[in-house]
Amino acid sequence: MKKTSHEVFGLFLGLITLAAVIALSAYGLTYYLTPLAERPFRTDYAIMKPSGTYSHGLGIFGSLMIVIGVASYMMRKRMARLSRYGKLSGWLTFHIFLCLLGPILVVYHSTFKAGGVAAISLWTMVSIVSSGLVGRFLYAQIPRNLEGLAMSDREIEEGIRELSADLGRTPAGQGILGIMDGGFGKFQKPESLGETIRAFRNLSVVSRDVHRRIDSALERSHLDRGLETRLRASARASESLVRKSLVVSQAGRLFHYWHVIHLPFSIIMFLTLAAHVTVVLLLGYTWIF
Ligand code: HEM
Ligand code: HEM
Repeated sequence: MKKTSHEVFGLFLGLITLAAVIALSAYGLTYYLTPLAERPFRTDYAIMKPSGTYSHGLGIFGSLMIVIGVASYMMRKRMARLSRYGKLSGWLTFHIFLCLLGPILVVYHSTFKAGGVAAISLWTMVSIVSSGLVGRFLYAQIPRNLEGLAMSDREIEEGIRELSADLGRTPAGQGILGIMDGGFGKFQKPESLGETIRAFRNLSVVSRDVHRRIDSALERSHLDRGLETRLRASARASESLVRKSLVVSQAGRLFHYWHVIHLPFSIIMFLTLAAHVTVVLLLGYTWIF
């Protein structure tokens, strides 16, 4: 399948993150594996300890990445005049990249030991990153327009109607609509949290099956290339919209509660980070300056 520029951007950022983890681990592996009590006797202790030039630098750059990742996304989301600088979904990918790589640098900065107020900052940061993964999943369950904004119920209905009308124009497209109806037609919208979690799991199984059946139906139809590509694109868009429409109200509710965790935890992290930085500056740790 042809990748969209957004997917290529995400893949590229993912590869940079992976390369950074490999490089950081390879560089400091023997230090991190050395028991805490023996580290001060190593020749590289002066640069590798959290206040050493190398690890201290990782803390500063990692924190800067987090600050930029949060500030840029929040500004882009809230300031209408920034809307001409790329889609919101692209900025979220950038937020995730900076706020994943930044915390990774900070973990290496701590040299895998945590004490004092810095430990609160570290563990809140780890919780935010973990909650971010859940948030990213919920974010993807909510139908969005090209800009990345959540679609209203009316927009979802219209979208499904237009895509169905497009597919219904050819016999092969009508076959695709039949496959989707067979897959999702009897699906009950979830009401409780337990039902929603089960629905996410069941829908991903049904979705895979529907995709497979649509692909083999298209192969069997021997259509010309142009029509096949167009039907495949409409089928994918329609399948995604129909699937998400079945859980959108519950996913939206969970995503709302999720914000209630992600945002206050971020505030706690920034407050404890400010305290940590103040303490180390008072102790005279000024890095290379
Ligand atoms: C979210 C960001 C950060 C977190 C979670 C964090 C966490 C930590 C942790 C866990 C330690 C080890 C504490 C210990 O020895 O038990 C540490 C040490 C240290 N951090 Fe950070 N840090 C962050 C950002 C920064 C920044 C931005 C700076 C510099 C401006 C910095 C400077 C230092 C220094 C100098 C030490 C060594 C302190 C000492 O040995 O007494 N950290 N940090
Ligand atoms: C230390 C790391 C992180 C911090 C401090 C942070 C902080 C934030 C903040 C302040 C927001 C804006 C909330 C709002 O506009 O109401 C946000 C949004 C979001 N973050 Fe993070 N984040 C971090 C890491 C991550 C990671 C690793 C992921 C995903 C893997 C992630 C996924 C999201 C998502 C999906 C949104 C919601 C976007 C939206 O509703 O428009 N975050 N984050």
